[in-house]
Amino acid sequence: MRKPFIAGNWKMYKTPVEAAGFVRELIDSLKDVNGVDVAVCPPFPALWPVKEALEGSNIALGAQNMHFEKEGAFTGEVSPAMLQDIGVKYVILGHSERRAYFGETDELINQKIKAAFTWGLNPIFCVGETLEERERGITKAVVEIQVLKGLAGVTAEQAENLTIAYEPVWAIGTGKTATPDDAQEVCRFIRELLVKLFGREIADKVRIQYGGSVKPENIKELIAKPDIDGALVGGASLKVESFTAIVKGSI
Ligand code: G3P
Repeated sequence: MRKPFIAGNWKMYKTPVEAAGFVRELIDSLKDVNGVDVAVCPPFPALWPVKEALEGSNIALGAQNMHFEKEGAFTGEVSPAMLQDIGVKYVILGHSERRAYFGETDELINQKIKAAFTWGLNPIFCVGETLEERERGITKAVVEIQVLKGLAGVTAEQAENLTIAYEPVWAIGTGKTATPDDAQEVCRFIRELLVKLFGREIADKVRIQYGGSVKPENIKELIAKPDIDGALVGGASLKVESFTAIVKGSI
């Protein structure tokens, strides 16, 4: 019912020149692949060259963050209007690295999510618990607060263009993946929250990705779960071979 969606979050890797060369190879590697939506999310300086290299391909462009204002005296920031002008389709918001290292709060993330919709950008909204929170048995409570605060004021119509990425913080870049059953349990819980917020019809359209050490070896069992509709891939999205294998494994 929901088309799989695989997005590569490159984080702070690849210069603009490296990025453009990489996507040329990726386009070739994915040219016969159908039935899945694919996006790459390079660092800001690489957005424009990657956009040019992606022209005519079926790979979409995403950004990794943005400010919520259109413009202003915010040194070092990038606005939704700028991303829209480049032709960016998706924007990752609320990533745990932004929350942990840059102090992003649920309130700030909410402002960014609403701004993304205003500017016609589709948010990939990240939520997930830390290891300590999982061990304390409060995973669902933590995720519930993140989802409810992050989506406050979002309309059902906007939510149709929302993707949620469930990324348990302890599984990011550690090689530890949540078991498919554990990931499914939280993704189902997120979908039920979406039902309460937007109704069943919309909730059933929202794609929920799993993120955290996704690799060619584990994508199939993750995507087989009913509420996991794709993956937000970090490390394994930096190599054409592994990212291609994940995309193909998701169909
Ligand atoms: O956003 C993707 C991410 O945080 C997962 O990273 O390297 O564990 O796939 P990685």
